Amino acid sequence: MFARYRKDTSIKPVPAAPVQDAPKPKVAPSPSSAAPQPAPATRQEARKAARADVPDKIAQRRLRINALKSDLHKRLLEDLNLAALEKASEAEVRAEISAIVAEALSEFDVVLNHDERMMLNHDLYFEVMGLGPLEPLLGDDTINDILVNGPKQIFIERAGKLELSDVTFRDDRHLMRIVDKVVSAVGRRVDESNPYVDARLADGSRFNAMVAPVAVDGALVSIRKFKKEKLGIQDLVDFGAFSPEMALYLEAAVATRLNVIVSGGTGSGKTTTLNALSSFIGNEERVLTIEDTAELQLQQIHVGRMESRPANMEGKGAVTQRDCLRNALRMRPDRIIVGETRGEEVIDMLQAMNTGHDGSMTTIHANNARDGISRLENMVAMAGLEMPLRAVRSQIGSAVNLIVQVSRLQDGSRRMMSITEITGMEGEIITMQEIFRFERTGLEPGGKIVGHFTATGLRSSFAERFARWGYDLPATLYEPTGPR
Ligand SMILES: Nc1ncnc2c1ncn2[C@@H]1O[C@H](COP(=O)(O)OP(=O)(O)OP(=O)(O)O)[C@@H](O)[C@H]1O
Ligand SMILES: [Mg+2]
Repeated sequence: MFARYRKDTSIKPVPAAPVQDAPKPKVAPSPSSAAPQPAPATRQEARKAARADVPDKIAQRRLRINALKSDLHKRLLEDLNLAALEKASEAEVRAEISAIVAEALSEFDVVLNHDERMMLNHDLYFEVMGLGPLEPLLGDDTINDILVNGPKQIFIERAGKLELSDVTFRDDRHLMRIVDKVVSAVGRRVDESNPYVDARLADGSRFNAMVAPVAVDGALVSIRKFKKEKLGIQDLVDFGAFSPEMALYLEAAVATRLNVIVSGGTGSGKTTTLNALSSFIGNEERVLTIEDTAELQLQQIHVGRMESRPANMEGKGAVTQRDCLRNALRMRPDRIIVGETRGEEVIDMLQAMNTGHDGSMTTIHANNARDGISRLENMVAMAGLEMPLRAVRSQIGSAVNLIVQVSRLQDGSRRMMSITEITGMEGEIITMQEIFRFERTGLEPGGKIVGHFTATGLRSSFAERFARWGYDLPATLYEPTGPR
């Protein structure tokens, strides 16, 4: 029934090595090993050898099954018609794999118990159809990031903390095969002359790989998992990322179309915050989003999404964020959201913010609001715009209304450290005032950071604007509070 997924079955595949011939593990050789052992020279050595011979049966068996898996995988790749498999259902593929495996096992004269056989079929399905050993990690919703440092070291991030997983690849080639699989699925290539690549996995996760020789110890892969359920404003308040008062203020700021920049370090929650803030945008507005890798999931009805594209192998066909942004200005947007501003597109972003597309938002990599402004200045300078610093600053000062600073603290928690308004220019200096901040008060013995959110006591310079738009925030919102 499933033979249609096999290649020409009249061709006998090269039999895979039986389990007995599988590469022997370097640790604790099996006592049944037929290879003659050289006689130990001293009694001490003999004792040592005997100890090493104590069979760790489970580990041995696992190593053998791994070797068997590798052989079976090779056979599956030889036997299966991968092109036909693409159209097959999951059940059909699983059944076909299971049939080929059963055939091979009886040929090799290997007996596996039910659980081992199920596990083997399961793993082989992931090898053939998915990302091999990474699949269980991709399927685990508590994991945010997967970071591969060569074949034998895979870290994961859970609840803001990095931990080493017990998942490994067999070897460099195994890892590279998975990388190639992802990259070729999006029509790209990664090799010595093209050593790094960005891609998106079928489930929407962000994928970046860098391979040898630039990656010194084997391919480096970073995956930011795609969350189907994006964190909303209420979730973030519940997690302690910011206070309900800050949420009220942010609602007024976004709804009254202030231009907002979310600033933070890598993995600090910038995109998550931007996505949550976008929930305050009205349904009657036309929103255009521009990203390098589409991660934002806006809930509004009227959203146009754009994704930039790198050049192809001939170095042609690149569509930059700046290209998207320039085109977006001709697409009658009410608001433009750029996932992350990191280069020359800053000029068009500032121009858009200054010329009627207020309510636009973006993120930048910076450590605090002041630093964020310097980053913007630097990006303008790098874009090659010959403009005196004062003019650049006045562009930034009038374009940006609000900088929201997010951070991942050392205890793994992600918090909004400050909300700062840009109030104007004084001479050459952009003036700003902080409205809310996270006040750190101590450190618990377990390493947990203690602190609370508070207003600074300064009234928003946009209070009248908020009131005009029907967001009459109470004056008490701006009063400092202690720990709750
Ligand atoms: N307040 C929060 N509480 C718990 N998890 C969070 C919080 N904010 C973000 N996260 C999770 O942290 C991870 C990183 O978040 P996000 O992608 O928003 O960071 P980023 O700053 O945009 O990262 P990058 O610099 O890589 O673009 C995500 O998996 C996200 O779901
Ligand atoms: Mg991001």
